[in-house]
Amino acid sequence: MGKKGVTTSTLKKMKIEKKPIVMVTAYDYPSALLSEQAGVDVILVGDSLGMVVLGYDSTIPVTLDDMVHHTRAVCRGARNPLIVSDMPFLSYHGTIDKTLQNAGRLLQDGGATAIKMEGGKDILPMVEACVKAGIPVMGHIGLTPQSINQLGGYKVQGKNEEEAKRLIEDALLLEEAGVFSVVLECVPYQLAREISNQLMIPTIGIGAGPYCDGQVLVFHDILQYGSNLSPKFVKPYASVGEQVKGAIELYAKEVRERKFPELTHSFSADYGTNDKMGTKDVALYGGNQK
Ligand code: KIV
Repeated sequence: MGKKGVTTSTLKKMKIEKKPIVMVTAYDYPSALLSEQAGVDVILVGDSLGMVVLGYDSTIPVTLDDMVHHTRAVCRGARNPLIVSDMPFLSYHGTIDKTLQNAGRLLQDGGATAIKMEGGKDILPMVEACVKAGIPVMGHIGLTPQSINQLGGYKVQGKNEEEAKRLIEDALLLEEAGVFSVVLECVPYQLAREISNQLMIPTIGIGAGPYCDGQVLVFHDILQYGSNLSPKFVKPYASVGEQVKGAIELYAKEVRERKFPELTHSFSADYGTNDKMGTKDVALYGGNQK
């Protein structure tokens, strides 16, 4: 029996029915569990984990082993959402065989249902090979963070007509190659609307305005949790970082002032005062108090 829950067909149906698709990134068991409990449709194990979880400056140092490790944890936390795992930097730019082997690891070892690849025209042979092999592929165009050194910074893409035309062409070619959905990152909303109208498959926007078929945000950005990046397209829905810092500060203060732990947080045993441990130790361990 196949896996129940959200599938690539569910997402296509949602586009037809004009139901917005909710995607969020997650990188570990608790973030996946909470995202599933919140009812998201898709979890992306994004290579943004390089920045928000591993503390790198970009997604470039993230390895396939990192992706497998985090994808496994996410799959343990969530069963209903579709789980998409990012193919990391250079893992799909060598031979087709190597690409298939790498993509296969995210499904076989990681447990993901689908993979995501950044790029347009240049990666079509890799996309086609994965789709032919039965691996669902999500595309990703616009700002493609793995090409940050070529793009020269995290900038909005498709601002002039020539770039916009190229992105529309890339989106159409990816659809033809068999991707089940495309992420549009940091493109003007007019271009995202045009691409969303031209494609039969759903578009998922991040910094691409309200006219995409779905939206994705990075978990840590939604929560303002350890991420001090606040690009224009992020809407923070909580201040978890501040709450965590406050809680840890309070814990540290209480330990230093010997207010924590109290006896209610401690275990007790029925040692007598003549116990081998001696009166001093018995007092320290709470004596006969229950
Ligand atoms: O890695 C990631 O989180 C992503 C999203 C920004 C789409 O690719």
